[in-house]
Amino acid sequence: MAINQCELRPMGKSIHRKEDPRFIRGQGRYVDDIVLPDMLYMSIVRSPYAHAKITGINTDAAYQVPGVKLIITGEDLEKMKLAWIPTMAGDVQMVLATNKVLYQYQEVAAVVAETRAAAVDAAQLVEVEYEALPVVVDPFRALQPDAPVLRDDREKKSNHIWHWEAGDREKTEEIFQNAPVVVSQDVRFQRVHPSPLEPCGCIADYNKGTGRLTWYVTSQAPHAHRTVLAMVTGLPEHKIHVISPDVGGGFGNKVPVYPGYVCAIVASLKLGQPVKWIETRTENIASTGFARDYHMKAEIAADENGKVLGLRVKTIADHGAFDAAADPTKFPAGLFSIVTGSYDFQQAFVEVDGVYTNKAPGGVAYRCSFRVTEAAYLIERTMDVLARRLNMDPAELRLRNFIKKEQFPYQSPTGWTYDSGDYEQTFKLALEKIGYHELRKEQAEKRARGELMGIGISTFTEVVGAGPSHSFDIMGIKMFDSAEIRVHPTGKVIARLGVRHQGQGHETTFAQIIGEELGLSADDVLVEEGDTDTAPYGLGTYASRSTPTAGGAAALCARRIREKAKKIAAHLLEVGEEDVSWNGEAFEVKGLPSRKVTMGEVALAAYTNLPEGMEPGLEATYYYDPPNLTFPHGAYIAVVDIDTGTGAVKVRRFLAVDDCGNVINPMIVEGQVHGGLTEGFAIAFMQDIPFDEDGNCLAPNWMDYLVPTSLDSPHWETDRTVTPSPHHPIGAKGVGESPNVGSPAAFVNAVVDALSPFGVEHIDMPIFPWKVWEILRKNGVTE
Ligand code: CDP
Repeated sequence: MAINQCELRPMGKSIHRKEDPRFIRGQGRYVDDIVLPDMLYMSIVRSPYAHAKITGINTDAAYQVPGVKLIITGEDLEKMKLAWIPTMAGDVQMVLATNKVLYQYQEVAAVVAETRAAAVDAAQLVEVEYEALPVVVDPFRALQPDAPVLRDDREKKSNHIWHWEAGDREKTEEIFQNAPVVVSQDVRFQRVHPSPLEPCGCIADYNKGTGRLTWYVTSQAPHAHRTVLAMVTGLPEHKIHVISPDVGGGFGNKVPVYPGYVCAIVASLKLGQPVKWIETRTENIASTGFARDYHMKAEIAADENGKVLGLRVKTIADHGAFDAAADPTKFPAGLFSIVTGSYDFQQAFVEVDGVYTNKAPGGVAYRCSFRVTEAAYLIERTMDVLARRLNMDPAELRLRNFIKKEQFPYQSPTGWTYDSGDYEQTFKLALEKIGYHELRKEQAEKRARGELMGIGISTFTEVVGAGPSHSFDIMGIKMFDSAEIRVHPTGKVIARLGVRHQGQGHETTFAQIIGEELGLSADDVLVEEGDTDTAPYGLGTYASRSTPTAGGAAALCARRIREKAKKIAAHLLEVGEEDVSWNGEAFEVKGLPSRKVTMGEVALAAYTNLPEGMEPGLEATYYYDPPNLTFPHGAYIAVVDIDTGTGAVKVRRFLAVDDCGNVINPMIVEGQVHGGLTEGFAIAFMQDIPFDEDGNCLAPNWMDYLVPTSLDSPHWETDRTVTPSPHHPIGAKGVGESPNVGSPAAFVNAVVDALSPFGVEHIDMPIFPWKVWEILRKNGVTE
C-alpha cells in the first residue's frame, strides 16, 4: 500500500511519487512546452539513401517559402569546423553530410523558419542530388575484404572499428580441450530502439548581449552535454547554461549529442534568436541512437553432471555508420564481460569486434548498463541449451552452478568483483512462489495431450553504478556523482543532484534518503535536477547508476551536514560534542534521551545561535566516487501457452523476484520492474528494426515498430529478496535496468521449452507468431 506522506524515517516506505500530481494533471514542463519570445523553428532535411555521394544541394526554392530565415548545409558547418563532432564512444560523426551520406535518414541540411510548418515545408523543397553507392547492411559482409569501405574519413581502410576482449584466452582454451561436454549457440540480439514517449528535442537560445547560450534539451546528462558543447563549439563552458526540464522517458536515447542539437545551436548563434527543434517519431526511431544489434556466439564447457567449467564468447557488434554510443573509454563493448552471469565458471574468454554498416549510428545502453542486457540474454539462453543437451531440468542446472553466498565478494574470471548476492535464496523463492514443480507436472500432462506449454527461467546478474573513477570515464570525464544540500533556517531543504531523472521518481526517493539521514520527512526536502547553473557536476542518469552513485552522494552529503549539525546540537544542549548522539530523528544527550534537539531546531540555530567562531549556514556538497559497482540480481520465471493453430504465444504468468539491496521506495521499485518487464516483453515478442538490402529502414514508426499497450502486456507478479551492497552508503543497488536485462531470456526460454518436443533449441527474437507457426507447420501440428 502506498502512502501519501510520512513524517519521519521515510526510507523503505512506499511514499506516493511527489512528481506524479503534475505529470498526471498535464502540468509537466517538457522542452516542447517552452515558448520563448521571437522563437524560430527548425526542420531537418534527411537522406532517402543509405549510401550515396552528394553531388549538389540547391536551397533556392526552399528560401522562397515565406518565413524561412536560414538554411544550414554541411558546407556551412565545415567553415565553422562543426561538420563533424566527437561521439561519446571515441569516434567522430557527421553533423550534416558534406560529400556523402552513410545511412537512410541521415541529416543533410537544417531549415530554420518563423513557424514549424514553414520549416517543414521548406525542408521538402531543398533539392539534394545523390549518386547511389553500394550499400552494406550485414556486419559479416562489412568485414569481408572486398566490402566497400564506408568510413573513408578514417585512416584504417576497413569497416572494422575496434577489437576488445576480457578473460584468459589460453586457460579457457585448455578447459575446452579437456571438457566432456561442450555446447555452442549462435544468438542474435536484434536492433531495437529505446523509443521514449517524448522524442528528442531542444531550444538553443543564444543571447548576443550577454554572449551566453541557454540550451533547453531532453538530456539524461546535462553536465556532460555542457562540456561536450564547450569542446565542440569553442564557447566557454561558463557561458553555456544547460537546462533539462521534465524529460518524458530516456532509456539511453537521450545520452548522445545529436546533429539536430548542434544545428539548432549554430542557427541560434547566427541569428541571435531562440531556435526550437523537436523530432518527429520517425526521426527518433530511424536516426537516433538504436540499441543492441549484437551477433553473439557462446560456448559452454561443462562436466557430465552439469557443472560449468568454461565460457567462450565471440561477438560482432553492429554500430551502424558511427560508433555513437556512450561507453566508458576502457569498455568499448560496455560491461558485456559480465556475461559469466550468476555462475561459477573457472575460466572465461570474451571478445567483441565493432563494425560499421550503412545503418543509423548508436549502440546506446537502452535500459541497460552498457551491453549487460545482451550478456544476460546470451548466458541465460545458453544455460538452457546446456540443460537440454544434458537432459537436465534448467532449474537444477542453475542451482548446481550458482556462485555461492559464501563466495562474495566474488572475483569473476572476466575481472569483476561482485559485491554481494544470495542467488540460491532468490531462485528458491521464485520456484516456490510460482509452483515450479506443479507447473512441470501440468506441462507433462499437457504435452501428452498435444498442448504446448513452456516454462522459461532467467537467473541473471547485473552490474550497475558506473563507476569507480579509476576505471570509468566518458570522454575522459571520470564517472562519479554528486549532491548538494542546503538546509534553510526553518528546517526545509533543497537538494540538487548531478543526475537527471526521466520519470524514475528521484524527486521522491532522493528526498527519502536525505529525509532519513537528517531526521526530516520526505516532504521537507525538495529535490532538483537538470540545471547546470545550480546542480553540482554529475555524469547523469542512465545504466541504473543514479542510486549507486548519486544515492550514495546524497546520503554522504546529508551525513556531512549532520556532522556540523552535531556541533550545533552540542552547543544548544550545552554539553560536549562527544556527549551527543543521533537517534535517527534528533540529537540527544547520551544517557539522557529526554534532552534532545531536532534538525529543525539545529537549522534555525545555524543562522541565529551558533557556537563561537563557527561559520554560519547549514550546507554541504559531496562528490561520491564509489569504490565498486553494485551487482543486483534476480530470478524470473515465465509460463507460456502456445496456440497450435496460429503460433500466438500467450504469457500466462510472469514472476520477477529482484534483489537490489536495500530498497528506498518499494512502490517505485515495483513500478520500475513493471516498466522494464513490459519493455522486455516487447523486445522478446514484437520489436525489431530491420533493413532491406538497399538500407531502407523497415520499421521507422510505431505502426511497424510495435509498442505494447496495456492490453498486450501480461500481468506481472513481483517479489523481492534483500542482499545489501556492503560498500554502498545505504546498502542499495540499482534496479531500473534489471527487468529489461533479465526478462528477454525468460520469455524466449519459455517458448523454446514449449517447442522443445520438436527439437527446437533456439529461436531469435522477436518471436513473432509466424515464426512459431512456421515451426508448427513443419512439424505437422498445423497446416
Ligand atoms: O539511474 P536510474 O534512476 O534510472 O535507476 P536506479 O538507480 O535503479 O533507480 C530507479 C528508481 O528506483 C529511483 O527512483 C531509485 O531511487 C529507486 N530505487 C529504490 O527505491 N531502491 C533501490 N534499491 C534502487 C532504486
